[in-house]
Parts: sequence; structure tokens; C-alpha cells
Amino acid sequence: MGRVVDNIIVKFGGSVITDKKHPLSLNLDAINSLSRTLAMHSSKKIIVHGGGSFGHYYAKLAGLNTKCKHIYEVNKVVLTRKSMFELNSHVIDSLTSYGLNPYTITPFYWNKDFSELKSLILKLLSQNFSPVFFGDVVPCKGGFRILSGDDISYILCRMLKPSRMIFCIDVDGIFQSPRLEGSPIKELDPKMVKNIIVKEHIIDVTGGMLRKIKIAYKISKLGVDVFFVNGFKQDALLKALNGEYGVGTCMRGVH
Ligand code: IPE
Repeated sequence: MGRVVDNIIVKFGGSVITDKKHPLSLNLDAINSLSRTLAMHSSKKIIVHGGGSFGHYYAKLAGLNTKCKHIYEVNKVVLTRKSMFELNSHVIDSLTSYGLNPYTITPFYWNKDFSELKSLILKLLSQNFSPVFFGDVVPCKGGFRILSGDDISYILCRMLKPSRMIFCIDVDGIFQSPRLEGSPIKELDPKMVKNIIVKEHIIDVTGGMLRKIKIAYKISKLGVDVFFVNGFKQDALLKALNGEYGVGTCMRGVH
């Protein structure tokens, strides 16, 4: 599928838009800072957000993760989804307040080859909307599973071949060690990935930072540059939106 010029996919990490240490706690300041920064940039934006202390909290209670499982307490599936819709409504409110036109799309409207989804996204972008996605609970053979915001980001990158993919995380980039000493790795070579030891949040049900890095690698193999930047720092996100190397950690697209 061909490249669509000047589209940027931005993932709002759950550890930025919520406080992962405390269940159901929103970081409204961070959400507003991300919205404000996106509004300052002229590119067409597609936004994906994670679950943080909303989705992950209930998913853990429900026993949900990225593998397909039969869930006995279906009310917990309901609560997990409800918390994600709640978080999404805060994101939508914030994006709207900064003049963006968010349009939430849930995975249920997707057909197998994603063709309808692709035309919907392109139509929305051409009309000045910003499509918004979030990690969700999806039905699978015999049960339910979590489709993470990172997996959604990969699907979108494969479909749209955006100019770049930006992961907004809660630290300055990817570090060599979990103690986050020194500066982040400026350019992450795929060969370095296996030597990185990351610090994970206990609450995480979707594989945390390591899975994110692996997904970034898959995205880079599509020819798309991937940036990991500190979502609390407006300047870092702006530079990544401009495609400036040297901010956070970049995994360059392999052409
Ligand atoms: C998780 O999505 C969604 C649910 C738990 C329902 P992500 O895995 O993308 O969330 P974060 O960014 O790591 O919090």
C-alpha cells in the first residue's frame, strides 16, 4: 500500500496520560500538553492512546491480556472497556479544546483486509479530522483479548505508511539499563534491542516497554521512522513531529 504524505501517527502512552501507580488516575495536565503541542503542528495527525491506570487496572482484574482467553467474569470485560471509553472521552475533550477535530474509531468497524478502515481514515483526514484509536478489549475465538494501542499503531503504520510514528512515553527515550542512567540511546539499532533491559510497570498487561520496542522494530522495517520521546516535554514532541533526529530515541525506517 502506498505512502500517504505528511501523516504522523502519535501514540499517547498510558504512563503519560494517566498515573500508572494509582488506579484510575488521570494526568489531565499531560493530556492537555500533548493536545496543545499537536494543535501547534500543521501535519495530519492520527492519535492512538493507551490504557494506563484505566484499562490496565481492570484488564488485570479480569485476567485479560494479549492472548485470547475465556473470561468467566464478563462484567470485568465491561468495566475494562468502560474505563477505556472514559479515558478516551477525556482525550477527546482535550483535543477538541485545542481546536483539533478528533474522531474515535474502535476496532469493531474493521474488516479483515482493513480496506474500509483505510478509506475511512483517508476520508476523515481529508476533511480535517484527526482519527483517534485506543487499546481495547476485542472478541476472539472462544473469548476476549486486549488489542493494545501499540499493536493498533503497527496495523495503522502498515496500512498508511505514515511519515513517522511517535511514541510518547514517560521518560526521555530508551535507555540501555532500567536505572535510566546517562542519556537515552539516540539511534536504536535493531541489533541493540536484545541487550536492552527495561523497567516495567507491574500493572501492565500488554508486554510493556519491551513489546513496544519490538513493535517499533517491526514498524521501522516498513520504512517508517519511529521516535520515542518524553510525552511530558512539549519541545521533544514538537521536534519529533518535525522529524528532527537527535530528540529522544529514534529507530530509523529501513528502506
Ligand atoms: C492497553 O493499551 C489497553 C487496555 C488495557 C484495554 P496499551 O497497552 O497500548 O496501553 P499503555 O500505553 O501501555 O498504557
